[in-house]
Amino acid sequence: MVQQEYRYIKRKERLAVYPGSFDPVTNGHIDIIERSLKFIDKLIVSVARHPAKKPLFAFKERVEMLQSVFSGRQEIVVDFFDGLLVDYLKKKGVYLVIRGLRAVSDFDYEFQMVLTNRKLLPGIETVFLTPKEEYLYLSSSAVKEIAKLNGPVEKFVPEIVAKKLKEKFSDPQDY
Ligand code: PNS
Repeated sequence: MVQQEYRYIKRKERLAVYPGSFDPVTNGHIDIIERSLKFIDKLIVSVARHPAKKPLFAFKERVEMLQSVFSGRQEIVVDFFDGLLVDYLKKKGVYLVIRGLRAVSDFDYEFQMVLTNRKLLPGIETVFLTPKEEYLYLSSSAVKEIAKLNGPVEKFVPEIVAKKLKEKFSDPQDY
C-alpha cells in the first residue's frame, strides 16, 4: 500500500482518471474536466464499457463523442475500461480519481463507491468537484429525456453530442 502511494507522489506529471458512463458526455462533465485540470497535468477520461444501467449509446459512440469534443487537447486522454475501476487504475498506475458531485442525491452512491474502491485498492484517493451552478441538476439521463421529447439539448451538451442525440431519436428503431 505504501509503495502505491509513493509511486503516485513520485510522478513528475500529476495524472488522474475521471471514470464514468458518459452516456452521453454533457456540459456538466466538461465543466468537471476543466476544473480538474487546474490542479493536475493530465486527465484520463475513461469510459466504462459496461455501466450499471443499459446505455443509449454504444460504447464506441460514447468514446468517439468524447474524442471529438476533446480533439487537440494534449492534457486530456480519452480511454475506456472493462471490469473493475480499481483494476484499471492499477494497470495505469494512477491513484487519483476525479468525480463530480452535484446535489445531495449523488452523495450516497458516490460515498459507497469511494469506500468500496478504497477497500479494494487501498491507497487510491478520490477528489470530488462541484460543477458550475447551472449544471448542478444536469445529468445524462435528463439530457436523453429532453432529446427524446424533441427539446433543445444544445443548451446542455456540445454540438456534436446534440447532433448524435437527434440522430438517435429520429430513428425509433435505434432506441
Ligand atoms: O457515470 P457513472 O455511471 O456515474 O459512472 C459510474 C462508474 C462507471 C464510474 C462506476 O459504476 C464504475 O466504476 N464501474 C466499474 C465497475 C466497478 O469498479 N464497480 C465497483 C465500484 S462500486
